[in-house]
Order: sequence, then structure tokens, then C-alpha cells
Amino acid sequence: MENKTHLVDEITGHRRMRRNRKADWTRRLVQENRLTVDDLIWPIFIIPGSGILEPIPAMPGVNRMTVDKAVEAAKEAADLGIPALATFPNIEMELRDETGSNSLEKNNLINLASAAIKKAVPNIGVITDVALDPFTSHGHDGILRGNDIVNDETVEQVARAAVYQADAGADIIAPSEMMDGRIGAIRQALDAAGHQSVGIMSYATKFSSGFYGPYREAISTGGLLKGDKKTYYIDPANGTEAVRDAALDVEEGADMLMVKPGLPYLDICWRLKEAFGLPTFAYQVSGEYAMIKAAAANGWIDGDKVMLETLLAFKRAGCDGILTYFAVEVARQLARK
Ligand code: PBG
Repeated sequence: MENKTHLVDEITGHRRMRRNRKADWTRRLVQENRLTVDDLIWPIFIIPGSGILEPIPAMPGVNRMTVDKAVEAAKEAADLGIPALATFPNIEMELRDETGSNSLEKNNLINLASAAIKKAVPNIGVITDVALDPFTSHGHDGILRGNDIVNDETVEQVARAAVYQADAGADIIAPSEMMDGRIGAIRQALDAAGHQSVGIMSYATKFSSGFYGPYREAISTGGLLKGDKKTYYIDPANGTEAVRDAALDVEEGADMLMVKPGLPYLDICWRLKEAFGLPTFAYQVSGEYAMIKAAAANGWIDGDKVMLETLLAFKRAGCDGILTYFAVEVARQLARK
């Protein structure tokens, strides 16, 4: 026994990592990162009509909701201390067209939701996406001409849509369509319309990912999408390109950066935070959520434990916060502690 101890001390030079792990109180004392309710942004899906909560099969526990229900959800989120919502519309198929023209309707579903939420719950932040995919008949994020998602014309349109979103009450515009030059164009448009205080959270590094499947079901774009989004989203193989892309967004005036998906791209979170020091967020996307829920439902993992572990991993990777479908579930658990 004594010899063994001696041997380990010789190897470790008397440095024993387990001393700080020996009890709950030491572990709490040395814990480097913590998840709090202030770290959470809750993405929600809006549908037309009223009084409806509609479950999304691939996202157990997540509902599409009508604007009135979204207002109730916003109240609940605010009561729990969740700082902000990110809203996504699932509009009628008849309203979707080649150019996503409904994005330019002042009173479209997303704008009605922002107005209603801000009126009833002024203290919760509302973050809106200006990508065109919820509005196009082909499910692409931009305007499709022939086989091309045309960049500049799309940028012009999303910048105009951003102004309507800000008019309706959105606090932060979050463009996810990855067109070149969009951040600068949106900043200019917002400023010209007097929306200097409306921020921009850039989906700076959005990867061409398989993890978006359930989201496309949630807003009914999955069946519509022709081809893929490889000509505008980033190749999952490319980290340095992602940093360069984010650098342009920073130069153009992004207030915050986002990495999407989240968990498979923690290296990117870390690199962006190190490189730019801007508030940096990860989007734990639908597929990440679905995987955890499915494995938990099968009894293969402890769902709560994995949920908290993944969210903490984002903090460790340098993120200031996380967009997550777990937001309310986590906030409730944190409140109980
Ligand atoms: C598209 C958009 C996507 C998500 C949000 N906005 C990806 C896509 O469909 O290509 C994904 C969110 C998620 O998976 O949770 N502008």
C-alpha cells in the first residue's frame, strides 16, 4: 500500500487532481462554468389562427402555436426569466411563392406575432429571422432564378423585410440566409428607417447540415426544398472559412454572432469568441434536440442530464448563450434548484 502510494506520488509529483473533486462542496467551489436562465433564447414556431397548439412529431415537447398562444408562451418565458424568444413562422402554402413575397407584407404572421408579444410582454426580447425560406415555394432561403439563389436581389429583399420586422417590434434581426453583404445592407436599411437601436445577431456561421431536418418539418419546408443549400451555407469541413465569413459580418456591423448547428461546431464557437470577442451564441438546432429526446425516450440516455451537459458545453466553449428548444424545460429546472 505504502509503496503504491509512493509510486503514484513519484509519477504525479504530488499533484493529485482528485483532491478538488472529492466532495460536492469542493466541486461546486471549483466549477468553472455555469448555466443560468440568462443564457437562454427560446425558438418558437408560429402558425395562423387562434387557440391552437400543434405538436411537432419529430420534436417531442415542442408545439407550433398561434399568435395568442405565443403571447401566453412569452409570458411564461418572461416569468421564468428567459431573456428572449426567436420566432419562426409556418405560413399557409398559398402564401408561399418563388420570391417569398409574403416576407414583405407588413402584417404577415411573423410581424403579427412580434407586435402581439411586445404589446403583452414588453420585457422579453424578440429576435426574428429574415431568411426567406418560410415564405418561398421552393424552401430556399433566397430568391431562386433558374438554378441560382441570387445573392444581391435577396439581400435587397431581406433588408426591406428587416425594416418591417423592426417596425412590428422585433428587437434583434437575425439573418440566417447566408447571403454575402447582408449584415451591412440590413444595418443601413434599419438605420435609414430610424431603427438605430435594433440589433443584428448574425447567423454568422451556418453550416450545410443534416441537423435541420425536424425544423423543416416544423415550418413545412422539408417537402418543398429543391436540391440543397450548399451554395450558400458553409461546408461542415471548413473552420477557417467560417472564421473569415464571420469576420465580414463583424466588419459590416453585426452586434452578436451565432454558430449553427451547435454541439458539432463547438470549435467554431471557441474560435469566433477568441477572434472577435463579440457576444457569441450557439443554436442547438432541431436535430440535436430530437436526438436527445429520442434517445431519452428509449431509455438509452438520461435526457435531463444530457440536456444540461450539452448546454453547459456551449458555455465552456465560450458561448454567451444558447438558442435551444429546451429553454423552458431548463429554466423550470434551474428555478427548482
Ligand atoms: C433557415 C433556417 C434553418 C433553421 C432555422 N432557419 C435551417 C434550414 O432549414 O436550412 C434551422 C433551425 C433548427 O434546425 O432548429 N433559414
